[in-house]
Formats: sequence, C-alpha cells, structure tokens
Amino acid sequence: MAHKLPDFPWDALAPYGVIAKEHHAGIIDLSVGTPVDPTPDFIQRALREAANSPSYPVTVGTPELRVAITEWAKKNLGATGDFAVLPLIGSKEFVAWLPTLLTTKSVLYPDVAYPTYLVGALLAKAEATPVDIDATQWPTAELAWVNSPSNPTGRVHNEIEYRVAIDWARRTKGVVVSDECYLEFGTNKTPSSILQYTDGDNRNILAVHSLSKRSNLAGYRAAFVVGDPALIAQILEVRKHAGMMVPLPVQKAMIAALADSDHVSEQRNRYNARKAKLIPALTTAGFTIDFSDAGLYLWATRNEDCWESVAWLAQLGILATPGIFYGDKGSQHIRIAMTATDQQITDAASRITEAVKA
Ligand SMILES: Cc1ncc(COP(=O)(O)O)c(C=O)c1O
Repeated sequence: MAHKLPDFPWDALAPYGVIAKEHHAGIIDLSVGTPVDPTPDFIQRALREAANSPSYPVTVGTPELRVAITEWAKKNLGATGDFAVLPLIGSKEFVAWLPTLLTTKSVLYPDVAYPTYLVGALLAKAEATPVDIDATQWPTAELAWVNSPSNPTGRVHNEIEYRVAIDWARRTKGVVVSDECYLEFGTNKTPSSILQYTDGDNRNILAVHSLSKRSNLAGYRAAFVVGDPALIAQILEVRKHAGMMVPLPVQKAMIAALADSDHVSEQRNRYNARKAKLIPALTTAGFTIDFSDAGLYLWATRNEDCWESVAWLAQLGILATPGIFYGDKGSQHIRIAMTATDQQITDAASRITEAVKA
C-alpha cells in the first residue's frame, strides 16, 4: 500500500529546515501546526484521576461522555433533530479510515485541502476527485469532504455554501462529512457548523470535531463525530470489530474539556494575537494574506512560487509550509502556523521586518 500513497510531503521540506536551523538565533518552526501551549491543568487532572483503568473501554464511549458531546453539540454547533455521537481516537484517524469503514468507492475533497482526505480515499481504493467549494458544481459521489475553517486557508463557509452542500447530499444520496476541527478559532469571522443548517434532518450529514487544537490535546488523541444516526451506527458496528476505542482516561479528560469554554477563548485569543503580530511584518515583506478568517494559520502569497517564499523565510531561520502540499491551487501560497510561543512569533516578526529594512 505504501507505494500507492503520495510521497510524505514533509520530507520535501526537510532541506529548508536544515537552512533555517543554521540561523544564528535558531529556527522558528511555523510549519507543522502542532499545538505548543500547555494542556490546561484541570484536563490533565481529569486524565490522572482516571489512571487506574484495567478494563477495555467500550467503543461507543461512556454514557457521561456521550451526554457531554450531545449537550456540547446542541449548544455549540446548533445541532437539532435526531443525531448520534461517537468518540474517536483523533480526527486524522477518522479522516484516513472513514472511506474504508463505509466501503466508499468515490470521494470528493476540496481542491486546496488537508492531505489526509486524499490518503483516506487511496486507502479505500476509492476514486478521489478534488472539487471547488461550490457544491452546485460537484459530480455525484458517495462521499464529500467539507472543511471549515479550512486547513490551510483559514477560509470559512457561509450558510449558503453549507446549504448547497446539504442539497447535494439530499439530491445525490452522497454523504457530506464536514471537518470542523478549528470551529472555535474565529479571527475575523465566527465559523458555524453544517449541523446548524440541516433543519433537524441530519440524514447523510456528519460533522467531525477534535479536541487537539481546541483544548491542546493533540497528544491525547481525542475527537468525535456527530450526525446521521444510521451512518454512525454503521461506523460503530465496524469499529466494534476493528477497535480504535478511546482510552477511558482520555474519555474522562474529554468530559472535563467539553464542560469548559474559558480555556478555548484563551487559546483563541493567543492565536489571534500571534496573527496580529505577524501580519504587519509579512505585509511589509510584500506578502498578501488571503482568507485566514479563522483557524491557526495564515495563508500568504507573494505571487511567486511557494518554494521561493519558503526559501526566503528559511534564510531568516523561519520555516513555513509550501502551499503545494495542499494541492496545485496552493502553488503560490505558504501556510504559516501560529503554533509557536509568543516570544518566537515576536522574534519571527522582527526578523522579517529587519530583513526588509536591510
Ligand atoms: C483539517 C484537519 N482535520 C483533521 C486534523 C486532525 O486532527 P487530529 O487528528 O489531531 O484530531 C487536522 C490536523 O491538523 C486538520 O488540519
């Protein structure tokens, strides 16, 4: 199977990491979007208190976790009507395996996108087609991914875009899976969930959420899916055989994390302050910031090949991701992640400003 998957894109970035590391003041790595701010203490405590966990966890999750997710989805996603919930060990795992679990034969995914949508289609030996956001133009398929706020662009879907995607699901009987793992990180816009627009009819609609970024829990592997009860029952049936159960201590940590929104606001403010610091420096250096209305990335272009932008930043010791990793349409953009300390972001901004002055 390995030879059928695309080359692991980060390998191509490694030489620029070597250049960035040579900077006299050290590398500032803004490439991989891995959280660096601490997991809140109260969530760590919930995990520790559940450390005695001799039994297998059940795939469907504890009743307490299911209630916590259900209530959270009603309050934060505007979910109505009949819907089910299911905990997941990370949303990457779900994205990579969903087409296999559903024996899907055709998958649509955004033409600038998180690479795992394509990987999931390849693992399932499904036909994979990149598509524009406008679902009126989508061909028929068994499954379509929507991602708002988008990784890498930070673009946010509006109500009409969601409703058109829901219409596509109803017309074609295809499944729409909305990956909403950055939902709570609005910058210039307040992102919404697809579940707000189903008018209580959630058939063929799923929304995927993750606590990795929201609660700085990427190391715990904690996520969940909400939506069509029939589809979730189908996924659960396979998973009961295939495993991927969420460890009980992680389930307890999820319950604690979902009950609190203050730590999420704090994290959102941190990311937005970092963006506010970097944007003027990038603009001075000739970059235009596109979209970037939510999430933890800046999507920037200098209307040059993305590798030229990556190389320019690398000699300043700053590592960014070339947009080509996310599809051909990203070939003139770079993605800059806010997952570095405040000090590192301040330093990155001054390195860029100084370079422009020199
Ligand atoms: C759009 C998108 N979906 C899913 C994931 C996976 O997140 P996790 O597996 O940590 O839940 C990521 C991670 O970067 C992402 O950017």
